[in-house]
Amino acid sequence: MVSSQPNVEEQQLFADTRRRAEERLPARELLCEAVIGSGFLATVALLWVLDPPGSFAVAPAVICLAVFMLASRVRFETPFGFTVATQLAFVPLLFALPGPLVPLAVAAALTLARLPQVVNGEAPAQRLVRSLGNSWFSVGPVIVLAAAGTTPIHAGPALLVAMFAGQIAADVIASTIRNFIERGASLAAQLRDAWVYAIDFALSVIGLVIAEDLHRSPIVSLAALPLLALLAFFARDRAQRIESLIELNTAYRGTALVLGDVIEADDGYTGEHCKSVVLLAMDVTARLGLDAETRRNVEFAALLHDVGKIAIPKEIINKPGKLNADEWKVIETHTVEGQKMLNRIGGFMQCVGTIVRSHHERWDGGGYPDGLAGEQIPIEARIITACDSWNAMRTDRAYRTALPYETALAEMQANSNRQFDPKLVAVLLELVDETEGAAARLSQPEPVATQSGAHTETSAAGEGAGWGAPRANPTSVAVIVESIGAADGGNRDARSV
Ligand SMILES: [Fe+2]
Repeated sequence: MVSSQPNVEEQQLFADTRRRAEERLPARELLCEAVIGSGFLATVALLWVLDPPGSFAVAPAVICLAVFMLASRVRFETPFGFTVATQLAFVPLLFALPGPLVPLAVAAALTLARLPQVVNGEAPAQRLVRSLGNSWFSVGPVIVLAAAGTTPIHAGPALLVAMFAGQIAADVIASTIRNFIERGASLAAQLRDAWVYAIDFALSVIGLVIAEDLHRSPIVSLAALPLLALLAFFARDRAQRIESLIELNTAYRGTALVLGDVIEADDGYTGEHCKSVVLLAMDVTARLGLDAETRRNVEFAALLHDVGKIAIPKEIINKPGKLNADEWKVIETHTVEGQKMLNRIGGFMQCVGTIVRSHHERWDGGGYPDGLAGEQIPIEARIITACDSWNAMRTDRAYRTALPYETALAEMQANSNRQFDPKLVAVLLELVDETEGAAARLSQPEPVATQSGAHTETSAAGEGAGWGAPRANPTSVAVIVESIGAADGGNRDARSV
């Protein structure tokens, strides 16, 4: 069963699934449901023709269907949808109804059970069409029975297991097609929900015991009700925990976005710069194939990496001339101050705070505040450092114009394995080659953006002249050389912050 602490990816899927359940089906999904539903009806019709249903006792069938409807309301949420405890009633239903009637009865029961939500306005009526697709699981055992030419009451253990396998196969095929078309979900991602089949198996055993006595005493189906009540309690508890988790993380994200706005209001250049770094860092993270939690942390740490600058006195931030050594020390505290701010928010923002603290560490150990080196530095911080530097070099600053593409490229390469993780530099340069590099080859090298501001973030190896220096136009080779010296810590005024 999915853990009580779903990971980031699962949390996003849960939230997405909840949102979708309240919305109308988009045309693409409606078409998908129409195809899956038509296939269901065609298969049932074929089964009917091949093995026309005979007579059956009404009372057991009606009681089983009533319990089935109740069970279908006991929903355990899964990342891609939900699972229900219907197996308690579905197995007896297989014993109560002729084969071809079972899938039709299941589809009708699922539709009727969903109807109150539609009447109450909690779900659009259009979503009732999904009941057909949700009934595919019931086709599997009926096909197995038809192939065996027998009825469930005469089925041995092997056939019963085969029926269950048929049920899983039909459900997996229908769900996989649906989730792939509607949400692009891979089979591997969906198989993480395979635990639901273990639950179904356990409930099938109980359903089988009930089914054995069904025709002697139809009321035996009601024996499933106490267990259903217990499962309903657990399902509600699980839904509440998932809701709390989603709400909490929504609050964290909202707080982070507000902080991002605060940074922008405090310093327009830094705000715009941070947003640009987010996009580039997310591209690098995606190219590296890192997991959802790392992607989330990179996104927020990139947005908030300079949030600590809010705590730096404005007379230092806005000082027109060069900064002295003491002022640089104050500036450098923005890493630790940023972490303190994010720690106060709590939750996953504490992880983001750790990354923010390290965004001025250097691969060779010459950075601050902790002098971490190599892989001691969180990978998220290494990604942000490289992207931050690239963006800073490629945008106009108050004291110089943006470096040309080829110059910035050379700067990154020169500082690979010194300031930056060489593996990340390779990925970053591969990415920018596809965008900025392609543009630079089509035309003469030129700046990609224009931003301005005094005394703003200068974390790039190519930050060159530093704060308060006159604007170079265009950037000269001397500035580049100076900036490399700065990257080595040789020039205090050009040192990155
Ligand atoms: Fe910074």
